[in-house]
Amino acid sequence: MKTPRENFGGRMAVIMAFAGSAIGLGNIWRFPYLLGENGGAAFILIYVAFTLILSLPIFLAESVIGRSSEANCRAAVGFLVPGRAGRIFGLLMVITPIWILSYYSVVGGWSLDYFLQAVQLKFIRATPAEISGNFGLFIAHPWVPVVCHLAFLAVTVGVVVSGVKGGIERFCKWSIPTLFILIVLIAVYSLTLPGSGKGIEYLIKPDFSKVTAHTFIDALGQSFFSLSLGTGIIITYSSYIKKSENLLAAGGGTALSDLFFAILAGFAIIPAVFSAGIEPGTGPTLLFDTLPYIFSHLGQSAPVLSAVAAILFFAAIFLAALTSSVSLVEVGATYLTEEKGMKRGWACALLFVICGVAGTLCSLSFGPLSQVKILGNSLFDFADSAASNILMVLGSLVSVILAGWVMPRSVLFRELTNGGALRTNAKLFPALRFLIRYVTPVGILVLVLSTVL
Ligand code: PHE
Repeated sequence: MKTPRENFGGRMAVIMAFAGSAIGLGNIWRFPYLLGENGGAAFILIYVAFTLILSLPIFLAESVIGRSSEANCRAAVGFLVPGRAGRIFGLLMVITPIWILSYYSVVGGWSLDYFLQAVQLKFIRATPAEISGNFGLFIAHPWVPVVCHLAFLAVTVGVVVSGVKGGIERFCKWSIPTLFILIVLIAVYSLTLPGSGKGIEYLIKPDFSKVTAHTFIDALGQSFFSLSLGTGIIITYSSYIKKSENLLAAGGGTALSDLFFAILAGFAIIPAVFSAGIEPGTGPTLLFDTLPYIFSHLGQSAPVLSAVAAILFFAAIFLAALTSSVSLVEVGATYLTEEKGMKRGWACALLFVICGVAGTLCSLSFGPLSQVKILGNSLFDFADSAASNILMVLGSLVSVILAGWVMPRSVLFRELTNGGALRTNAKLFPALRFLIRYVTPVGILVLVLSTVL
């Protein structure tokens, strides 16, 4: 007999949970930089266009697979593709988030450590010169980042263990609004700094001369990563969405809040970077090298404000990373409880051990294991590029093929329009189906070719 499953409360709960997965480090350390590099408002236009014609349809394809199955990823794929192929693709969807979590939680651990450093006023007490280079030393340390990673993972698992409603929904319902408040406060602070005008110009001035072929690839890749596509998360979360809910509205609301947060993050970070006379970069160095330097620099003249900004900022990064990693754990937790009959607590403990060990190896690749290389990459870089270039892309492709070509049209229609009851969705259905069947597979292949060539 089927065990009764939990459900998310209402529309807001669903969007908060999805947004929790979508809003993460990608919005904070990559989007603002891409925006500036690729012509500001021009990049936003391209990003929105890609999100509408590619990412959102992929999101909907995954959502439909999840809600129609009311089951974990492995089973959801298995319903559509029986036999061995279904097992393999289903397991791919379960393994991908575990793989991502292994290195994502290492960065989560860094954010935890930097938050604690901010609380101890370390960035304000040191001079900018003393701060420079600290990040490199920190990640190379043989055990401190490992402990932080394990602590971060423990908090993540601690949220998931309480279940979908009592854990994830409850957590996202307060953490997402809190994140928005934090980022707005930091943006207000950043925009009032002397010399911030140049940063604003960098962010929004539509400069079509900066738009190159690479802009399109960047926009597409960012939109994929930011919406957590191809990872089994949307399938899993959607399996907990009530039948009366509007999947299109939930997906659209998620994409909108994700984009809005990314733009706010741009206004929180870039003006401050310019005000300190620095050129913005991307990735961990922007967050953990450049920003502490800026807080220390600003702390020389306004220590209290700068200390508060540093604490709020690293709290935001920590929280953003946490809401994403919670979603990564849930895929495995749902799978282990439903397919392997494990209790949620044991499933979470097992995931903690697997990601704890794999993440420790990734973390040590900045220090004692720096000589270990896979295909010329450090363990951390290998884990990252395999996930974004192969696993997530493959997961997305499988999802659109399943929803567009394998799933009966009637099921796709039923899920997207609630049996025709949602009039607007019903009108949009032919266009949505066309996007899922034809446009998204081509878009994914273009993305693959652009990374291979
Ligand atoms: N979307 C998250 C971010 O922007 C990253 C992520 C990718 C989370 C894939 C889960 C799965 O940081």
